[in-house]
Amino acid sequence: MSDDLGAVLKDRKIVLGVTGSVAIFKACELTGRLRRAGADVRVVMTLSATRLALPDLFRSLSGNEVATELFGSSLGSNPHVDLAVWADLIVVAPATANVLGKVAAGIADDLLSTLIMAARSAVVFAPAMNTRMWENPVTRENMRKLRGLGYRFVEGEAGWLACGEEGKGRMAEVSGIVEAIGDALAPEPDLDGLTIMITAGRTEEPIDEVRYLSNRSSGKTGLALAREATRRGASVVYVTGASSVVPPQGVEVVNVGSAEEMKEAVLRELPRVDVLVMAAAVADYRPSEPLRGKIKKSVEPMNLSLVPTDDILALAGERRRDDQVLVGFALETQGEIDAAAAKLRKKNLDLVVVNNPVAPDSGFGKDEVRAAILDADTAGAELRRVAKSDLAKELFDRVVGIRRKRG
Ligand SMILES: Cc1cc2nc3c(=O)[nH]c(=O)nc-3n(C[C@H](O)[C@H](O)[C@H](O)COP(=O)(O)O)c2cc1C
Repeated sequence: MSDDLGAVLKDRKIVLGVTGSVAIFKACELTGRLRRAGADVRVVMTLSATRLALPDLFRSLSGNEVATELFGSSLGSNPHVDLAVWADLIVVAPATANVLGKVAAGIADDLLSTLIMAARSAVVFAPAMNTRMWENPVTRENMRKLRGLGYRFVEGEAGWLACGEEGKGRMAEVSGIVEAIGDALAPEPDLDGLTIMITAGRTEEPIDEVRYLSNRSSGKTGLALAREATRRGASVVYVTGASSVVPPQGVEVVNVGSAEEMKEAVLRELPRVDVLVMAAAVADYRPSEPLRGKIKKSVEPMNLSLVPTDDILALAGERRRDDQVLVGFALETQGEIDAAAAKLRKKNLDLVVVNNPVAPDSGFGKDEVRAAILDADTAGAELRRVAKSDLAKELFDRVVGIRRKRG
């Protein structure tokens, strides 16, 4: 364990949730490692976990009483709330398919699941299960949902499972779990001092006073970006059009409606930001003459005359300073890499995130997308399925890299 990690864990209050998996033996080592690093560890075991290992084992390893009961607990009458308030972080290792399913479904029927529901701290899951359970679409869906809700995961490589089979589902090594805990407790503040503008959501272009043209963007990518940037210490200016998600805490929200309003907001804020990430789905066309009132219904066919909207990203590319980092998003459904590379050059961008939201399991309203992050060198680039939260992390790693290179 690095000195830095030791410093992060020292005196931190960690609830270790232990569930009924054969990988429970690794939880013993994890308890010892966290305790040795100076963390105060309170173990909460599910009933199934107590069938595989005795609470006394974890009491001895953690140096604290082990909690197993929601009712009649020696911790008091509200052990779930008391532990949730006490904890700086909750880590569930091993996490069974069952506990993931319960949390994803909002079930709180024992101490651990109720405690997780009451938690405001980070929750890290280290799943462990047989490959058949891991590959079950219900488990995949539960993990996708939990990630989208901000729960963290640390996963192991495929390999030999404690049950004797080989495949996916093996719990991460203890060192990986300790690292994930350290990361959740003290993310690297590598965006500290930077002002980052993120555009999110979709624009709405009025047809008349009750109707508009728009698209299917949910705003989830912009949300993931804003969360990640805030977590890493940036001040975020969040310019959002219509969206199906609520802006994250701690950002400066600028609400806009149409592409024209988004253009005005972006160009107004541009001089004061260090980084601009244009993740919003901005309309390319708008009705030429929005009408007053409501267009009356008629049996006659109707033509809507559309005119192109201004290209906000290209305008920002023209006005940018050399010290700013400009990131565009390119939504492409075929020839994605070439189309995005052309956009990067034409619009004077540092990076472009190309994504295909209409591919299966990708995009609109989902927590995952098929995407690639490109700079001028696109050699070997290809789209891959990635959680929007991981895409945000990778993108800001690249932004940090660009700024470091520039000195
Ligand atoms: C010996 C044994 C090992 C098990 N290992 C796992 C496992 O690694 N992962 C898993 O999801 N379930 C495993 N199970 C099944 C769970 O214990 C079962 O789904 C239980 O209801 C989980 O309860 P809990 O999530 O409240 O601990 C195992 C069961 C047995 C009998």
